[in-house]
Amino acid sequence: MNLAALRREPRTPLALVRRRRAEASALLSSVPARATIALHGTPLLLLDPERVSRQYRHLRRALPFVGFHYAIKALAHDAVLDVLDEAGSGFDVATGEELAMLTRRGVPASRIIHTHPIKKPAEIAEALAAGVRTFVVDNDVEIEKFRGAPRDTRLLVRLAYRSPHAKSDLSSKFGVGPFEAAHLVEQALAAGISIAGFSYHVGSQLDDPTRFAAAAADTLELMGILERRLNVQFDTLDIGGGFPASYDSESAGIEDVAAVLRPVLEPHARRLDIIAEPGRVMVADAMTLVTSVVGVAERGDGRWYYLDDGLYGSYSNVLTEDVHPLVFSERDLRGRDAANHRWATLGGPTCDSSDVIAREVLLPELQVGDLLVSPTMGAYTTVTATRFNGRPFTPVVVVGRGATTGEIAVASDARRVAIV
Ligand SMILES: Cc1ncc(COP(=O)(O)O)c(C=O)c1O
Repeated sequence: MNLAALRREPRTPLALVRRRRAEASALLSSVPARATIALHGTPLLLLDPERVSRQYRHLRRALPFVGFHYAIKALAHDAVLDVLDEAGSGFDVATGEELAMLTRRGVPASRIIHTHPIKKPAEIAEALAAGVRTFVVDNDVEIEKFRGAPRDTRLLVRLAYRSPHAKSDLSSKFGVGPFEAAHLVEQALAAGISIAGFSYHVGSQLDDPTRFAAAAADTLELMGILERRLNVQFDTLDIGGGFPASYDSESAGIEDVAAVLRPVLEPHARRLDIIAEPGRVMVADAMTLVTSVVGVAERGDGRWYYLDDGLYGSYSNVLTEDVHPLVFSERDLRGRDAANHRWATLGGPTCDSSDVIAREVLLPELQVGDLLVSPTMGAYTTVTATRFNGRPFTPVVVVGRGATTGEIAVASDARRVAIV
């Protein structure tokens, strides 16, 4: 299959499935992946860090005046942090633990922003001591926590934009409207705390470029109004994350979002430090899950296949985010049994009835031990997995250019497996 030709195909649902199938097939027949699966068994997450740096370069090309800070909550894996650190990316953290992952590896604090709107005072103190200066607030109690902080501390007020189209509408938990935002800026000024600008998150997996542009335009308008009314000057606009990934249907690409954002943002790029916190779009495509069938049953609603990973494990994105990664069988990828397909339900491995990964999946006749492959499993998968039923975390193994074929080292923490 010619991958370059497939990439030029029109963006139809079928074209996406064909592209993903070609990628999964190429991966599964590669020597490192085969060796890894043979050595390690399943379930297994195969991570290609080169795809992460490719996405970073893509974002930089599309919006060259934006400073990107990878939201490490999406996939906090060493190999991902390595390639992004090397590429000069900034990082976005939400907790002291995420910050420690970066400081341990020597990432300068000047490249780290802390964007959780609610933080323990001790966590703020630790972040300030580490040298982090950019933080997000969305209420007066949080602003008070910064009384006495170093003068170069930069607070961003988080705005809320409702995102009914997004898979995860983050405005229901955090952020304020324009009137409350104005009040918070005034309150901060009165307390001698300066506000550097504003941040927002349009909603995660938001497949609607016009919402990105509208949020940026509305925020810039609010900034202008407040600057005139309060006689202040803001210098930072944080446009958050939200860029979508293509799971089971083609979503807007980086270029589509950038095309509507550029004309809104570019006129302000000289005056403002424009930053972003993408998570999902950087890593979603970089990881592939390999599972195997552990059970087959004929039930009232048809054929069921039970897999060795599920909603409480790597497919936690299905449960928490309502995204639906494609599932291919190795038999299909190898072109076997083409005529013999039927609809099936895919159950996860835990002993409860919620753990159903997908229904109505068209699959060939499968047997215990057959492999299944899900692409687009990089974001919010291993990081949100649990150990329900005592099941271990699915190991992440680095393949592709980020790894050398050789001995596979399995650390005691199963999340940190790498080819060395
Ligand atoms: C504050 C903040 N920044 C960035 C992100 C990353 O968003 P996404 O993965 O949609 O790009 C999130 C996701 O929850 C977030 O809460």
